[in-house]
Amino acid sequence: MDLYEPFNRYRWKRHFNALKKDIIRGMIPNPRRATIELTMRCNLSCQMCFRDQGQKGELTLEEFKTAVDNLSPGIRQINLIGGEVFLRSDLFEILDYLRDRNLRVRIQTNGTLLDTQRLQKLSVYWNVSGVGFSIDGPPELHNKIRGSNSAYEKTIAAIKNTAQFFSVSVNTVLLDENFASIEEVFKTLSELGISEYRVEPEMFATTDEVRESGVEPIAANIKEQGRYSFSAEELRELKTRLDKLAAERGIKVVIAPRVAEIDAGDFIAGTVRENKKLFCKHLLVPRIDAEGNLIFCHIIKKRFGNLKDTPLDELWKGEEITRFRRKLLTQNLLPVCKRCCRLRTI
Ligand SMILES: C[S@@+](CC[C@H](N)C(=O)[O-])C[C@H]1O[C@@H](n2cnc3c(N)ncnc32)[C@H](O)[C@@H]1O
Ligand code: SF4
Ligand code: SF4
Repeated sequence: MDLYEPFNRYRWKRHFNALKKDIIRGMIPNPRRATIELTMRCNLSCQMCFRDQGQKGELTLEEFKTAVDNLSPGIRQINLIGGEVFLRSDLFEILDYLRDRNLRVRIQTNGTLLDTQRLQKLSVYWNVSGVGFSIDGPPELHNKIRGSNSAYEKTIAAIKNTAQFFSVSVNTVLLDENFASIEEVFKTLSELGISEYRVEPEMFATTDEVRESGVEPIAANIKEQGRYSFSAEELRELKTRLDKLAAERGIKVVIAPRVAEIDAGDFIAGTVRENKKLFCKHLLVPRIDAEGNLIFCHIIKKRFGNLKDTPLDELWKGEEITRFRRKLLTQNLLPVCKRCCRLRTI
């Protein structure tokens, strides 16, 4: 463990505690980055995906430009996510517009559509600071989870080729089925030039947790049994083994959320809300859905106005979202939050 880690953790806790108090009082920092969901369409059908498949509408290119013009001036980075962003036929026009506005861009993709032709086009964007991919297992298991016979092969090729131009991170959703394969996955990925490997325990919620959260709409991955099949101890041991492999290869390994590592017992048991003081990192990052609405997060898709007709500054400080943030923090977040990758303890 890093010698300074306990000290740093203490400093971050103080920082987030102060932020929490400010947010409850109605003050929110101006955002520095934003996440834009370009589309909810996808060419894959992963078994655990929480994406809102009901959302069909999308901003046109012109509407997208208006929405970007309506972003707060302090925003310097945009995370582009889906669905699958490479299904947007105007993706490169979108990237042109963001580049012309000096906005740094990070792209999250399943990688299956990022062939050499598209990568060649992408490689000239100096403002793209990183590309994130998803791999959920060795070939057969990955393809089974992702519902496609050719996904693994295409994504691995895209990772290898993209790493020659950009900083690449890879996410694996930690599922009951792939727990035993994670080190094998990491070893394969570590040969491809990636800089970060993130393991995210599957986010899911029961229908009771969705109902008790008392907000709509919620885009959850519903799992009624409401528990992980692996234990806190097994998760901690996995992280220790990954850290060892990672140190040998110079790659950063992250368990997201860190709560799942630091407070693994409560995280796995689903008791974080009862036993820990929580904060949500998404509170500081506006998320725009495919139709231009400011929504709360990837799970809580409640809308707080639209960037097609209103500047983000106005929406971000609006009464309804301010009330919602207060409710969230005074209730130590919501039942749907307890397995979320954005959690942190304070
Ligand atoms: C919703 S996807 C959108 C981007 C792109 N289609 C992809 O698969 O990378 C964003 C990330 O969420 C992950 N993800 C999907 N379902 C999840 C779940 N239930 N729990 C945790 N992460 C999940 C995906 O594997 C991916 O890394
Ligand atoms: S995880 Fe990504 S690739 Fe899989 S269905 Fe969801 S959006 Fe599509
Ligand atoms: S912790 Fe809750 S509010 Fe925050 S991103 Fe996750 S689901 Fe959304």
